[in-house]
Amino acid sequence: MRSALLVFVAKQLGYPSGIWGRLLLRLLNRENAGMHQLAFDQLAIRQGDRILEIGFGGGSLLARILQTGLPEKVIGIDYAEDALKVTQRKLQRYVRSGRLTLLQGNANHLPFPESQFEQICTVNTLYFWPDASAVFHECYRVLRPEGTLVVCYNTPTVLAEQGLIQQGFKGYEVEAVENLLSQTKFQLIQTISGKDSSNGQYYCTCGKR
Ligand SMILES: C[S@@+](CC[C@H](N)C(=O)[O-])C[C@H]1O[C@@H](n2cnc3c(N)ncnc32)[C@H](O)[C@@H]1O
Repeated sequence: MRSALLVFVAKQLGYPSGIWGRLLLRLLNRENAGMHQLAFDQLAIRQGDRILEIGFGGGSLLARILQTGLPEKVIGIDYAEDALKVTQRKLQRYVRSGRLTLLQGNANHLPFPESQFEQICTVNTLYFWPDASAVFHECYRVLRPEGTLVVCYNTPTVLAEQGLIQQGFKGYEVEAVENLLSQTKFQLIQTISGKDSSNGQYYCTCGKR
């Protein structure tokens, strides 16, 4: 990708905004479908669950979760105003019914009391967090005992091939993500991988509170 375009896209991926940001969010729904499916499969959603997605972007993983009809409540948090606008429009019937709430906020300070969720998921967001450990501690705090955290991401090799490490994306090897979860006191940590033509090889690391 030409460097000016790459700089622009990398910035938009971390904070989608304006017309191009909204377009990118819709594109991500399609391009990241494989990663969303892998994350969804790890959630094993049960009737009455309360589920949080951090950095929901264009909202397609939220849609998949809601379509099961199982959760009592789904909450999405993203710091980009345009992510909220795009997803609000896409999923307005769930918002109106009260089953989905979308919030503007930062992953490193989750605006919830402790022990609120059975499941937390996040896809392609780790690269933008200045302090991943702080975010995982927040996840731990707001998860209920035995609740599950699902983190889906590309590793540095793929991110570098895409030119994104060079644009300031923080890449983590699987072992580093597992160590961070372990240091946060998560248990039963395991990682599975997936692969597709859009994202190459990617990983999903899960841990239980
Ligand atoms: C690359 S997009 C991924 C969107 C979606 N999860 C997907 O996989 O298609 C990253 C998203 O995470 C959001 N994000 C990044 N860092 C965040 C943070 N610290 N707090 C909340 N949202 C964040 C961005 O605004 C953006 O919508």
